[in-house]
Amino acid sequence: MALREILILPDKRLRLVSKPVAKVDAATRKLIGDMFDTMYGAPGIGLAAIQIGEPKRIVTLDLAKKDDPKAPQVFINPEVVWESDEEGTYEEGCLSIPEYYEEVKRPSAVKVAYLDVDGKKQEVEATGLLATCLQHEIDHLNGVLFIDHISKLKRDRVIKKYAKAAKLAAKDDAKK
Ligand code: NI
Repeated sequence: MALREILILPDKRLRLVSKPVAKVDAATRKLIGDMFDTMYGAPGIGLAAIQIGEPKRIVTLDLAKKDDPKAPQVFINPEVVWESDEEGTYEEGCLSIPEYYEEVKRPSAVKVAYLDVDGKKQEVEATGLLATCLQHEIDHLNGVLFIDHISKLKRDRVIKKYAKAAKLAAKDDAKK
């Protein structure tokens, strides 16, 4: 297992639509291990495989509170099969858009079908933080970022800021 580099906005790979995992095999489990290492190392509570450059439909989460034992969760090929009409608002952030937080409105409950690490079909009914995180991460698998759910004005502003930062970083690298 290894810490992997997290792709940062405006990396174009974040806009890729990830492919379903055909078979949950040793390579899949190795990738999941890397995802957990990278997510815990960041630290973050959720990660989609594309955020480490792997366009596969895999999501890792750990929503345990700071001092509670770890509670790793894996969702392979997750799919929202039902969502509530009722919506809720959470302040969201993303490891690919570091240090930027904004309120996002989403369905407050969802039912998600997925495969577990043994390749078995599972379904979860999620509310609260889990519902928000699952929707945020499944968005990643479709090339969608949480900033796509905020106003265009705010989105344009944050995209511009990160594009500028990336340009400056590239210039610094060129000097080395
Ligand atoms: Ni994210």
